[in-house]
Amino acid sequence: MVASSISVRTQKLNLWYGTFQALFDVDLEIKQGIITSLIGPSGCGKSTLLRCMNRINERLGYVRTEGRVDIDGQNIYAEEIELAQLRKQVGMVFQRPNPLPISIRDNVLFGTRIHTPKADKLSKEQEEEVLEGALREVLLWDNVKDRLDDTATRLSLEEQQKLCIARLLPLKPSVILMDEPCSALDPKATEAVEELIWQMRGTYTIVLVTHNMAQARRASDECVFMLMGKMIEHTETADLFVTPKDSRTADYIEGRYG
Ligand SMILES: Nc1ncnc2c1ncn2[C@@H]1O[C@H](COP(=O)(O)OP(=O)(O)O)[C@@H](O)[C@H]1O
Ligand SMILES: [Mg+2]
Repeated sequence: MVASSISVRTQKLNLWYGTFQALFDVDLEIKQGIITSLIGPSGCGKSTLLRCMNRINERLGYVRTEGRVDIDGQNIYAEEIELAQLRKQVGMVFQRPNPLPISIRDNVLFGTRIHTPKADKLSKEQEEEVLEGALREVLLWDNVKDRLDDTATRLSLEEQQKLCIARLLPLKPSVILMDEPCSALDPKATEAVEELIWQMRGTYTIVLVTHNMAQARRASDECVFMLMGKMIEHTETADLFVTPKDSRTADYIEGRYG
């Protein structure tokens, strides 16, 4: 068997919000091209850990991070890292879909337009190609191709969340972070978005935070169980739910807490 390559590696990762320590010595290796979910009770640090992977925690002045995060072999906390570049390489999707209040077309093209130097500006035809490619990839093209100039915020929540995924794609991310991407959706929309995420495996490395264990079970290849800022167990999803190694994991999946 060929050893799969590691896309995201954290080493001795510690994080403080002011004096409160939220992550403790997290050592984690996330494999390239699969879906890894982060699970654990509310407040255990799932979102915090996810947000270390694109350094978005640092928007808060009182956050301090120690340790190391490497993505595609590069230390993303190194001095020479440009945050704008990092955020292209590592896309993020949030709980509530947050399209901009502009057209569907402009949402998808927004990132490319601001990141492309003036000299390399895409032609109208090239833009249309990028637009169609991204919307097809998220299974939205047929739905919206006749109303690309409609305001994105008028779409259904399912469509909005797919659009939020679509707008990352023209930037050619290698990793996509998703923080409870279905929590605002009804069951049918959840199923549709899960199907989409599943289809994106292989092309992207996906890290999915979920508090929904059924979702973790259905929609991820590997699972990381966290508790009070520590990583307790990381294994293939099927094994985690059937033969957890740590008694704390077993307690959690049996619903004894959180
Ligand atoms: N912006 C913040 N400022 C201060 N403390 C925070 C902040 N965000 C999260 N925390 C704290 O850090 C811990 C982990 O939170 P979080 O990563 O959001 O957990 P989860 O996503 O697993 O529910 C919690 O105790 C939470 O209260
Ligand atoms: Mg969270």
